[in-house]
Amino acid sequence: MQFGIESGKPLETASDALIVPVEAGDIAGIPAALGGMLPETLAASIAEVIADARFTGKAGNTLVVPMLGAVPVKRLALTGLGPADELTAGKIERAYGAAARAARDAGARRLTAIAPPAPLDPRAANPIEAAVIGMSLGLYAFTTHFGAGQPSEERSRVESVAFVGPGSDTAQDIIARGVTIAQAVNFARDLVNEPASTLTPERMAEHARDVAAEANLEVEVLGPDELARLGAGAITAVGQGSANPPRMIRLRYTPDGADAEPERIVGLVGKCITFDTGGYSIKPADAMMEMKGDMAGGAAVLAAMSALSSLDCAYPVEATICAAENMISGKAFRPGDILTAMNGVTIEVLNTDAEGRLVMADGLVDTARRGATELIDLATLTGAIIVALGEGTTGLFSDDDRLANALLTAAEEAGERMWRMPLVEELNEKIRGDVGDVKNIGGRPGGAVTAALFLQRFTEGRPWAHFDIAGSSSYPAANALGPKGASGEGVRTLLAYLCGA
Ligand code: BES
Ligand code: MN
Ligand code: ZN
Repeated sequence: MQFGIESGKPLETASDALIVPVEAGDIAGIPAALGGMLPETLAASIAEVIADARFTGKAGNTLVVPMLGAVPVKRLALTGLGPADELTAGKIERAYGAAARAARDAGARRLTAIAPPAPLDPRAANPIEAAVIGMSLGLYAFTTHFGAGQPSEERSRVESVAFVGPGSDTAQDIIARGVTIAQAVNFARDLVNEPASTLTPERMAEHARDVAAEANLEVEVLGPDELARLGAGAITAVGQGSANPPRMIRLRYTPDGADAEPERIVGLVGKCITFDTGGYSIKPADAMMEMKGDMAGGAAVLAAMSALSSLDCAYPVEATICAAENMISGKAFRPGDILTAMNGVTIEVLNTDAEGRLVMADGLVDTARRGATELIDLATLTGAIIVALGEGTTGLFSDDDRLANALLTAAEEAGERMWRMPLVEELNEKIRGDVGDVKNIGGRPGGAVTAALFLQRFTEGRPWAHFDIAGSSSYPAANALGPKGASGEGVRTLLAYLCGA
């Protein structure tokens, strides 16, 4: 999809649909927003349609109005911004996302748009950038596997969006920035939506190699032999039951003109279980249904890495994607097995379905030992975080207030919902090993907390933050920013934290 700028008047510029932002209660302002070019009878009919539909410019509401051939614009896609004094970048995103989706569903392929007004918050992202992100995310569709059975009219796609008005070089740069951010999120969504039969650990490594070549990163992929030599016994065990062997994927971003010995190196670690059957502690069918998405942490890390050089990230970043498939076979690991992680800590496996924390253990140690001065990990780690926070919120655990607060701010700027959870020290008791150092489960109460406390054993004393994205990595239903399925959660918070994007 192409984004651009066309100089001209909104109603005189041909398009399948013109997106018109409307502030709450400002119905009377619509003709002026359209450049005062509306033929009088048409203006009266539009006013009637708007009144009939009770469209008031409330945030989240859209209304598609056909122009019946009276102007070169086929339809208006009116979209509510809500009250002018409450306008935020997030509201602009959702308003433009919803309008673009409504226009697409009405059959529009070439869109034009009136640029949004600026939000009052001076720190807010540029409104054009927010509109671009909202439309790119909202129009996302996972079409890779559509086949002969899909009627072509249901494959409608938007080809282009042009902001109508005076263009400028800075506007072009702002559009490009929005496109970069949205493409990263949509890339993560594509990876998460891809079935496990095609997105194996090695296929993930291939994606990482492609990203590295395009985005100026170094990449190194470790297979079972290298992992055994490293002493990474935890990811090895999780991956050993699958015909698709595990991969630890290392990526490194170095900013232009970086110091030879930088003071700060950010470490990112992603859980990438390409499918989670639960292993011998097998999941019931309903719980297994969505487990192709158990690699969303790894996908978010790879997607964020893909955008760092375009967004001129100033810090070196050391990333690790812990890719394995948790399957059942004669070679699979079992409850009762005792593993030794890369740092020498022994782990008593009491439940093979608590596999995420195992692969992450080795990934955290490896990232710290490669020089990361702080660690941020993303993992679809626990069902318990969904019970605690519901589906749309990421649980943040951290042992460093500076890092935690910076990440909460980044999440807010990025429009991702995140809530800090406590690392309740006393709960360490629940994961104390009987015959090894630490157990991989701590019981039902506080399940997301004990999982985080487990990870903390492998952070090598670095300031650390953990995103439990089990609830937020997918949308349960379509919304203004995308269809049901992968959300790409975490990518934007990471980019906001690393590049101020
Ligand atoms: N991948 C799951 C967590 C999950 C659940 C992600 C629902 C997305 C949606 C994880 O590997 C898991 O199975 N966790 C167990 C841990 C338990 C055995 C201690 C869980 O949450 O039930
Ligand atoms: Mn599991
Ligand atoms: Zn899992």
